[in-house]
Amino acid sequence: MNRYVNLILIISIGVGMLGVGMMVWPEWVTGVMSHTSQAATAIHNLVTSLYLATTTTYQGTNSAHQGTSSAHQGTSSNKQKSSSRHRERIFTAQELQQYGSQGGTKGPYLAILGRVYNVKKGKEHYGPGGGYEFFSGRDGSRAFVTGDFTEEGLTDDISGLSSSDYIGLDEWVKFYESDYKYVGKLIGRFYDEKGEPTSQYYDAQRWISEAYRQRESENKEKKMFPPCNSEWTPESGARLWCTNRRYEVSFPVW
Ligand code: HEM
Repeated sequence: MNRYVNLILIISIGVGMLGVGMMVWPEWVTGVMSHTSQAATAIHNLVTSLYLATTTTYQGTNSAHQGTSSAHQGTSSNKQKSSSRHRERIFTAQELQQYGSQGGTKGPYLAILGRVYNVKKGKEHYGPGGGYEFFSGRDGSRAFVTGDFTEEGLTDDISGLSSSDYIGLDEWVKFYESDYKYVGKLIGRFYDEKGEPTSQYYDAQRWISEAYRQRESENKEKKMFPPCNSEWTPESGARLWCTNRRYEVSFPVW
């Protein structure tokens, strides 16, 4: 009996100390939680990779896509892999054109960064009369971030965009990966006739990765040097304050 009392006592002390720890060091709690979820994501990624390694049909697509997403977000990379499990088709530009907004019974299809998706599910956007009909049957990657929906604007040439545009473009790819069915690759700027990535594919991946790296270093800088603001009111006079989300340093100017 005494052993049980001791055990309950030890557990209570342990839970109590955990509670105090959580109150005194909230950062410790978020740290532990993020490590736990990172571990869960890592295990999930490992299981998915093992599964995919056993299915040979889709290896081309996976390796082609590892550059962008696994570099930034495990979750989206998993989605890309899982969508690539279907047998993929290699399209010429003319073939893709046949899946324009009219799209026959299967389409419409659209391409972004050379990856082709069946967007039939979103017919109200991509079908005849839809607000984004012009994306169907082609790769208009650049227009996804420039909003230039003219014939010249709807191009797959993504050179010279801004850093945030490259991130925006990658987010559109993730969107199509997760919301629509991947059907294959488009021969042209990003993939060759065998569906292998071209040098421009690797350029695009590099631009996207660099954009994420730049954003990360800017975020780090913002944390170290929080932006400062100033205000003046007749009641309190001038005030200058520097803040990031967690700390605010405020001092009156006079
Ligand atoms: C660069 C500019 C833009 C691009 C490339 C763009 C692209 C798109 C695309 C591709 C879709 C269809 C998404 C899907 O498949 O579900 C969509 C939906 C939509 N967009 Fe845009 N868009 C742009 C700007 C805007 C702006 C400025 C507005 C509003 C002022 C807007 C409002 C909407 C709305 C309301 C939907 C429908 C959402 C839904 O029904 O789920 N878009 N957009």
